[in-house]
Order: sequence, then structure tokens, then C-alpha cells
Amino acid sequence: MKALVYLGPGQIAWKTVPAPSLRQPTDVIVKITSTTICGTDLHILKGDVPTVSSGRVLGHEGVGIIEEAGSAVRAFKKHDRVLISCITSCGKCEYCKKQMYAHCEDGGWVLGHLIDGTQAEYVRIPHADNSLYHVPEGADEEALVMLSDIFPTGFEIGVLYGAVKPGDVVAIIGAGPIGMATLLTARFYSPGKIIVADTDPARLELARRFGATHLVNTGEGDPVDRILALTRDGVDVAIEAVGLQQTFDICQRIVRPGGHIANIGVHGKSVDLSLQRLWSQNITLTTGLVNTNTTPMLLKTVQSKTLAPEQLITHRFDSKEIMKAYEVFGNAAQEHALKVIISHAEHDGRQA
Ligand SMILES: NC(=O)c1ccc[n+]([C@@H]2O[C@H](COP(=O)([O-])OP(=O)(O)OC[C@H]3O[C@@H](n4cnc5c(N)ncnc54)[C@H](O)[C@@H]3O)[C@@H](O)[C@H]2O)c1
Ligand SMILES: [Zn+2]
Ligand SMILES: [Zn+2]
Repeated sequence: MKALVYLGPGQIAWKTVPAPSLRQPTDVIVKITSTTICGTDLHILKGDVPTVSSGRVLGHEGVGIIEEAGSAVRAFKKHDRVLISCITSCGKCEYCKKQMYAHCEDGGWVLGHLIDGTQAEYVRIPHADNSLYHVPEGADEEALVMLSDIFPTGFEIGVLYGAVKPGDVVAIIGAGPIGMATLLTARFYSPGKIIVADTDPARLELARRFGATHLVNTGEGDPVDRILALTRDGVDVAIEAVGLQQTFDICQRIVRPGGHIANIGVHGKSVDLSLQRLWSQNITLTTGLVNTNTTPMLLKTVQSKTLAPEQLITHRFDSKEIMKAYEVFGNAAQEHALKVIISHAEHDGRQA
């Protein structure tokens, strides 16, 4: 089969590799119909994720059709259409019992990381019963790829951990795919104001279309003053969706007493925490790796058309053009790219 293979820092190739086969009775093989590229894949490509070894097939998002199911798989059978979660989970360990699937003792984020991923014609999914979801009848399948990672991340780690409530003033720092997914799911709770901050005017404009009530370009003037000027005495919820010291700092300086800071961004370095001020303001600070435990609920919101995940898709490619897709996604600002969809027009078949 063809797959996108990581060959070491700065090197990837779309090449022929052996197709996966069942290893455990709880595995399935999924024939991928659509997948996408995540910012994390770009981090891997830069060599920032040393746990990814050379030869690994990348990708942790996708939808497809079950090609073969192991003998112990109960919830899925051949030909079922499925959404793949970026988090693999056994459903049986202590963490899974608490729905902390990110910390599954035999799973977590393994796809396109520790085992071969979804940017391929076929992928092996371990613990299929707990790691896949049925595609609802009539759903826009391609758009569901946004539910593998982006939407659960924005919703769980941003909106739910941030405890967004009706009438709240919410600030989202960073308008990448994660910030946008946070924005769209924060709207479930009818906040009074949604302030979105970014350095990219095109992304800010898109945020306005997605429901942001106020936009702040952090590259112009002091963003803290400008955000505070939009509030009485600060924001109820400050959501960090970038992963930098300066954006985390904006969050801790704009939050009002009793407020929440929900950090989603992946920080490569430690950040300065103004604990000397935050403690007396009764601030709650949360962090987290997406668990994808809200995926069933998000699927219902897509079905009821409360959520339209296809809004995030800006570019579409055939799998043969995947290298071009990486180029476009890698130059997201110039290309005005948010999420790219990669689909397989045809499959070469599952021979090695
Ligand atoms: N916690 C989790 O489970 C989880 C899961 C997925 C991704 N993430 C992390 O979430 C973060 C966002 O992901 P993404 O895919 O949207 O990334 P992205 O790089 O596409 O988006 C980041 C956005 O931040 C903006 N930005 C950069 N510097 C800024 C500044 N000084 N002020 C305001 N905006 C600024 C960029 O213009 C961009 O629009 C990343 O750190 C990613 O690693 C976390
Ligand atoms: Zn991802
Ligand atoms: Zn588990």
C-alpha cells in the first residue's frame, strides 16, 4: 500500500510499504477514505517528537471503512464506516474507567507516533471497540475527520476545563484549528462575549465568521490592555491555544477574580507562572491532553447540525498529492490554510 512515511527530521515520503494486518483479536484494519495533517505532524517533521522513529507512518486522524475485524471485536464489522479517535484506549484499565483515555495503560496517543498511523491506504487500529466510532447515518464523512482530534481537544481542554458558562466573557488566544474548534464549541454555552486574539488578520477575520464578537491582533499594541478594555475587570475564561510564554502570559494577565485559565497549547519550555497574584484572585488553572471522551456527544451535535465541522476545511487533496498538502499546511499563513483534507480516490489494494 501507499503511505506517508517519516524518514527522520525534515524528511517524509509517500511510498510503498507493507500493508498492516491484524495482530490482536481486538484489532481492526480500516481502509482510510479521508485523513488530514495536524500541527503535531509538523512538530514530528521538525524532529521535536523524538519518540517517533524513522519508518513510522504518520497521521492520527481519519475516517474509513472496516476492511477486516479481529475475532474479539464486538461493536464493528467489515464494511462499517468509522471515525478513528486520535487516542487509542482499551476501555478496561483504571484510567479508561475514569474516561481518561489519553492515559490508557495500553493506548493513549500511539497512532502515527508509536505505531503506524492514518496517512495511508490502510491502518491497524488496536482496541477497536473503544477507539472507533460509527459514522452516523447521513453525516458528511469528510467533515468528521475534524472530530478525530481538533474538536475534542478544543472542547474538552478549552471549553469544559475552562468551565465556560452562559453570559461569560471568554478570550481565546490563538486562532489556529484548535482555537477555532474551541470558539465553535464555546458557543454551545452562549457566552456573552468571545474575544479571539491572533497575529494573523486572515485567521481573525475567519474567527469573526465563526462567531467571535471581538478580535484582537496581538501584533498591534498591548494585547492585554486591549482585551481588558473590552471587559469590566477581566475575562471569565482565558483559553491558551498557541503554546508560547507570551500567550500564556496574556491569559494570566486578563483573567478576572474567580476566573479560569485553560491551557491547551503544547509548551516546549517552562513558562513563568504569576502564582503570587493568581492565588489571591481565586484563579483556576487547568491543563490537559485530549481524552476524546466527548466524541460521542460531539457526533450528536454534528448530526443535529449544532456543529458544522466542515467549516474548518480550507483545502482538499487526493492522497497522491499528499506532499503538496504538507507544503500548503506547512505554509498555513501564506496559503490561508486551516485544515486540509486528504482523500483516497482509489486504493492500490492491501498487498505488501
Ligand atoms: N492539549 C492537547 O491535547 C492538544 C492537542 C492538539 C494540539 N494542541 C496544541 O494546541 C496548540 C494550537 O494548535 P493548532 O493546531 O491550532 O496550532 P497552529 O499553529 O495552527 O495555531 C496557532 C495559532 O497561534 C497564533 N499565534 C502565534 N503566536 C501568537 C501570539 N503571540 N499571539 C496570538 N496568536 C499567536 C498563530 O498565528 C496561529 O494562528 C498547539 O500548541 C498544539 O500543539 C494541544
Ligand atoms: Zn493532532
Ligand atoms: Zn485503557
